[in-house]
Formats: sequence, structure tokens, C-alpha cells
Amino acid sequence: MSGLIFLPTSDLRAAIAFYQSKLGMDLWLDQGDCAVMQHGNLLLGFCERPGEPFEGIITLFYETWEEVDATYLTLEDLAEGPPEENEAYRIYHFFARDPEGRRLEFQAFLHELRPYLSGRDLLETRRSIRKFKGEAVPEELLWQIIELSRWAPSSRNSQGVTYTMIRERDTIDYIASVRGSSSAPIAAAPMAVAVSADPEITGRLGEDACIAAYHLTLAARLHGLGTCWIAGLDRDEVKQRLGLPVEHYLATVTPLGYPAERPTIKPRKPAESFVRFLD
Ligand SMILES: Cc1cc2nc3c(=O)[nH]c(=O)nc-3n(C[C@H](O)[C@H](O)[C@H](O)COP(=O)(O)O)c2cc1C
Repeated sequence: MSGLIFLPTSDLRAAIAFYQSKLGMDLWLDQGDCAVMQHGNLLLGFCERPGEPFEGIITLFYETWEEVDATYLTLEDLAEGPPEENEAYRIYHFFARDPEGRRLEFQAFLHELRPYLSGRDLLETRRSIRKFKGEAVPEELLWQIIELSRWAPSSRNSQGVTYTMIRERDTIDYIASVRGSSSAPIAAAPMAVAVSADPEITGRLGEDACIAAYHLTLAARLHGLGTCWIAGLDRDEVKQRLGLPVEHYLATVTPLGYPAERPTIKPRKPAESFVRFLD
């Protein structure tokens, strides 16, 4: 869940140019007559509505249209009407008013989005994804994920980790078959990533490879992609198939792709049950 505020503009392209060039903001989303600029965690929208009164909108957005429906049920008395799809903007939304008459919008984007998750959202909402859409992961997106994964810590900053991008279908299916149902989710994705560490570069193979792999799972989630940690693949036959030396440690091979499921959240123990303080 996140949000943005839309303000009126009489010249959208000039507004975009100003906020980009003078304030260093990125163009997060261009909707034609509206655009959303990003600065860190600030999402700021502008809309050009010639001849129409437009006082601005506070827009809260959700990941799914089901969440919009659920929000509607709690705000029905304030809503202007039930949620509906807006094909032009590819959103599902409804409007409401706050007690002082400000216009509120509750929506889900029906298309992929650039990252917007807060740190808290990212850490709380990562789930293991085992069902994927068939759509390939764009190469550019892959590099953006690797760019973030690069910042994983490593022993003595040795950076002895390799990410092997697996797009050969035969290789994906072979690795998916190695551990039966435990590794089967790999076959459900358009690609997989093997994360391994080189003992000639790092003395902390396990730690470095696992941290790097977890960094990748968070970076993928930030970019709207799903992953699933598949363990038990540090096997000679798997490494040979991937062209990795058998001495390397293979932390995981994760499927990678656009999620085709929203798994139920598995419960976690309460924090007090596993935290100790030695004061
Ligand atoms: C070390 C480790 C090994 C795992 N091995 C597998 C696996 O082999 N196959 C699989 O489908 N999921 C595997 N998982 C995913 C866990 O089942 C999952 O993280 C856990 O059930 C919590 O669900 P969540 O990730 O959706 O929060 C593994 C996770 C970890 C951290």
C-alpha cells in the first residue's frame, strides 16, 4: 500500500520538466494528462484538466483490486460510488470525500509499477512465490535488480558472489527436478537465478552467498518480481550443469518472475518469544 497526491497544473509537460531538471525528481509514471514524479519516498502527481475544476486528489493505492473492494466496504458511506475500472488509466478505483470535503481516491494500478514500497512494506510483504506469469523479465529490470543486489555486505567486502541468470528452459527444468516438489517452483518461472560464492575470493562462503541471495529477493520484490528460496541445491551435478566449479558454494537457485499468486501470509512467532536481552 502506498499513496500520492495529485495537484492541478495548467501545463503538465512544463511541470514535469521543472521537477525533473530543477528538483532532480524522476518521472515515476506518465499517464498522458497526469504524471507522477518521485523524490525518494515522495510520489507527487500533476494533472492537466483544462476547463474542469480540479482541486487535487489524495490517492491511496493498493496492490490488488480486492483490497480496493475491501476498502470500499469500510468507506461506503463516504464514497461517491462503487469501485470501477478506468481503462484509460488502467486503474481500478473509487472516490470518496474526507469530512472537510477533500477528494480521496482508492485504487489499484492494473499494470506493472516502478518501485514505490517503503522499507517497512518491503520487509513485511515479501513472500515466497511459487506461481509465476509466463511473461519474461525484461533485461533492463534484471540489471536494476542486480544493481541493488550489488550492495549486499560480504566478508571483508570480498564480493566473491556470482549471480548466474538461467534462461535456458532445459536447465531450469533440470534444476527444478533435482529435489522433487521442494525445487519444483523453479520450473514455474520464466527464469531462475543461482547465487554462489567462490572460496578463492571469500573465506565466508555460506554467509556471503546467503546474504547476497536474500538481498536479491528483496531487490526483486521492490521491482514487483517474485522469488522463492530453494535450498539443498549445493550439489556437484547442479553446479556442473550451471558451469560453476564444484568448490563454489551454491546457496540457492530462486525462480524469478512476475508473481501469479498472492500467498496467504504464514504466521510468525511474537517477537517476545525469541528475543533475549542480556543486560
Ligand atoms: C533456508 C530456506 C530454505 C527454503 N527451502 C525451500 C525449498 O526448498 N522449497 C520451497 O518451496 N521453499 C523453500 N523455502 C521457502 C520457505 O518455505 C518460506 O520462506 C517460509 O515458508 C515462509 O514463507 P514466506 O517466505 O512466504 O514468508 C526456504 C526458505 C529458506 C529461508
